[in-house]
This record gives sequence, structure tokens and C-alpha cells, in this order.
Amino acid sequence: MSSALSFSSASLNPYYHLFFTLLALFISGLIFLLSRKSKSKPLNLPPGPPGWPIVGNLFQVAQSGKPFYKYVDDLRSKYGSIFTLKMGTRTWIIISDGKLAHEALIERGACFASRPKENPTRNIFSCNKFSVNAAVYGSVWRSLRRNMVQNMLSSSRIKEFRGVRDSAMDTLIDRLRKEAEANSGAVWVIANVRFAVFCILLAMCFGIEMDDETIVKMDQVMKSVLIVLNPRIDDLLPILSPLFSKQRKRVQEVRKEQVNFMVSLIEKRRNAVRNPGSDKSAMSFSYLDTLFDLKVEGRKSAPSNEELVTLCSEFINGGTDTTATAAEWGIAQLIANPQVQAKLYNEIKSIVGDRKVDEKDVENMEYLHAVVKELLRKHPPTYFVLSHAVTEPTTLGGYDIPIDANVEFHSHGIGEDPKVWNHPEKFNPDRFISGGEDADITGVKGVKMMPFRCGEEDMPWIRAGHYTPSPDYCKNGSGI
Ligand code: HEM
Repeated sequence: MSSALSFSSASLNPYYHLFFTLLALFISGLIFLLSRKSKSKPLNLPPGPPGWPIVGNLFQVAQSGKPFYKYVDDLRSKYGSIFTLKMGTRTWIIISDGKLAHEALIERGACFASRPKENPTRNIFSCNKFSVNAAVYGSVWRSLRRNMVQNMLSSSRIKEFRGVRDSAMDTLIDRLRKEAEANSGAVWVIANVRFAVFCILLAMCFGIEMDDETIVKMDQVMKSVLIVLNPRIDDLLPILSPLFSKQRKRVQEVRKEQVNFMVSLIEKRRNAVRNPGSDKSAMSFSYLDTLFDLKVEGRKSAPSNEELVTLCSEFINGGTDTTATAAEWGIAQLIANPQVQAKLYNEIKSIVGDRKVDEKDVENMEYLHAVVKELLRKHPPTYFVLSHAVTEPTTLGGYDIPIDANVEFHSHGIGEDPKVWNHPEKFNPDRFISGGEDADITGVKGVKMMPFRCGEEDMPWIRAGHYTPSPDYCKNGSGI
């Protein structure tokens, strides 16, 4: 899952500094004159560090030399748990408070469910926002999301893919064993877990057998996509886009390569579905099957091949690096906390003994659940969830939230909020065992941590099939 907030200070080349200084001085005068003429009431945005005209806070972020989430942590102690950053032409409203997140995403979920304007690169890869993670709130948003939740994420469907998971786990263990033997016991956790998850998601998505060469090629294509999706300075300052023609050309090339490669796999599956029995290795069901003839409200035709490429890519990308990153943090914490490791090992041994772990065993592993929850609290793999936007101007926490702002939920800040958690900096799974602390990971009962999205799927207007929010949903404090 790639987000606008994968932006880092390293994205800004120091060579730009002089250029921006001159540019900012020149344009600031112009802005000053223009803004004097404007008669509209100024917005009461959340507070934030003062920035420069045009570039806003871009330089401060770049010059801080810190990872973006650290920079945000520092600003939070100064400006509170809702504040504003002006990032070039974009306004980012950053929320690090579970109560505000709950109000926005649960109590007034329909109002905050939309997505902000995409940059041109993301527009190309999302097929003009035809994806679950990029669609603006409306008929496409609802059709795609409902299809994924009902057809892929239901518990019966998850069970159906058990064979795929079992075989990926066998391969993973085999690879780890061989790697350990060859490297005096050391293994590369993230690379191996990433490969296993990638294979599971490929099978769930395409439902066809792929040889190693195809899997490796797919991985290369996906990595190239993620690289070109990395935010660029001209995404925030479009005035600079003439300087980036080479990069734009590269974007087109990567998209072409992605479409060409993935359409051949899509057609293979289409053929297997149309001619049952023709491909003996084809699985009985895949995500693609739900998309071939998907009826999207307001559209006459089913998704095009390019749109199918976008939808398959988000499914695979959404789950691969997130899951692998979580596993890597998990192993790191078990190494750093041998007493946690020992307790976990004893629990697994007491339930499984010497046989192979079965998925069903996991249901009885109370301590394992606590470890995973603590892991997701302390190390939410994405640090921020994807950018949200409001469907109409509203307020939150007493501040204005304009329609064109990026609303960013800082899941790392929420999970380490000292107002909510005892010693939040400590990795302590026992906090969930003793009954002293708890958190509803879906966020419905209250948001104390939010490693995943929270809310909308459980909202009554989705269940009832109504996506159009009543105007009241956007009024401050109105519930559902
Ligand atoms: C530890 C594992 C995972 C974490 C922490 C994680 C986290 C997230 C987060 C934070 C979002 C953004 C939600 C929002 O801002 O609205 C998201 C979206 C998404 N995730 Fe995951 N995810 C994980 C695993 C997976 C897996 C295994 C899949 C695929 C089966 C997946 C598919 C998606 C998709 C398709 C989206 C976009 C749809 C949406 O916006 O809800 N994720 N995920």
C-alpha cells in the first residue's frame, strides 16, 4: 500500500533550495497582493507551523532530516493532536488522536470517507481513481469496496483459500531452512515473508498457476510501479512539472509494461473461466472472477482490461509489504524481548506439541493474539493510513476541514498516545492479557489504535446499500 505520506525529506534535492528561495520571494509578493483582494472569510484551519508562501512547510519538512512520522511526532507535542501542514499547493490536516479519528471515521464516517485529488502519476495507475483505495465517495467507491469486502474478505472466502496459504507456508519453511543452513542460521525475514504473501495474493487474485519466472517478473513489475509512485516534488508544486518530463516518460513506460504483462495473465484466467476444464491447474475461484462482469452503478460496461490491472495491483500491493513489514517487526521484537519469545514458544508447544501448526490451532493461542495486537499497536506497518478527504466542507475538533484538504490519520501517534496507553513506548503484550488495557481493532467501539482502516464497512448506510450521506453526516458532532 503506497501513500502520499511515504514522502520523506530525502525526496527533496538540496539543489532546489536556492531555486525555491528565489521563487518563493517573487511569488510571495504576488500572493500578498492577490490575497488582499480576496473577500471570502478565512478558514479556521487547525494550527500548524508557519510556512512560506507557495512552498508552505515543504522546506521545514525537508530540512528536518527526520523521517516524516518523527517530524509529525514533534509537531504534535507543540500544536496538539490535530494540526495543519501546508505542503506546496496541498493542505494536510494531520490527526493523531483516537477520539477525533473515531468521530471522523465512525460517527461521521460517510463525511470523511472520500479520497483527495490524486497526483498525475497516481491518476495513471489508479485508472482515474477506479480502485478501492482511490475512488472518491460515490457509486464507484461503493461498488468496488462492496465487491471486495463481500467476495474476498468474508470469513468463508478466507477459509476457501486455506490450501493456498498452506502450500505457501510449506514453501516458506523450506526456503527458511535452506537459507539458514547456508548462512550459519541467519535468514532474511522480510524478503522471505514478502515472497510467501506475494504468492498467496497472486493465487487469490488470478487463480491460475504461475511458474517461478512469471512470479519473479510480476514482482519486478510491481516494484517498478511502487518506485515511480513515490511522491515527487512537482506533485506538491505543479509549477515545477516542466522539470520532470523524463520522470513522466518513465511513468508511462512502467504503466505500459505493467498493463502488457498483467493483461496476459488476466486473459489466461478469463479463458479458464469461459472454458471450464480447459486449464486443469486453474483454481475454482479468484478475485478476478468477481471483477470480469462487475456491475458498477452508473456505468454500462464492465471494467476494462486496464481497470482490471489497476484493481488486481491494488489487491496485491495492499497486502504484500504491509504483512511482510509486520512480520519483520514481530521477529525484531521477539529478538529484543526474549521473555516474550519464550512465553510464545511455550504456548505454541503446549497446544501443538511436535506436529505441524494448523491454522485452527491459532484460535486457541491467546498469547499469540496479544503479541500480534501489541505489534500492530506499536508498529502499524504504514504509520499513516491512506489519505482521506471530506465529501463537503465540515469541522472537526472545532476547526474547519475544507473539501480539498488531505486528512491524514497518524496511526503511529494514535497507538502510542500516552493519554490512552500505559508506557506506550514499551512492547508489552501482557497489557492485553491482564485485562488492564484493551482496544477494539475495528475502531467501532472507540479508536485506540488503527493499523487498518476503520469503520465504513460496518456503517449502516453501507449495509443498507445507501452511499449518499445525509447532509447531517457532515455537520459537526452529528452521529449516525
Ligand atoms: C498487517 C497487514 C495489513 C495492514 C497493516 C494493512 C493496512 C491497511 C491500511 C492502513 C489501509 C488504508 C485504509 C484507509 O486509509 O482507508 C489498507 C487498505 C487496503 N488494504 Fe490493507 N493492510 C494489511 C493487509 C492487507 C491484505 C493481506 C490485503 C489483501 C488481501 C490488503 C488489502 C488492502 C486493500 C485492497 C486496501 C485498499 C482498500 C481500502 O482503502 O480499504 N491489506 N490496508
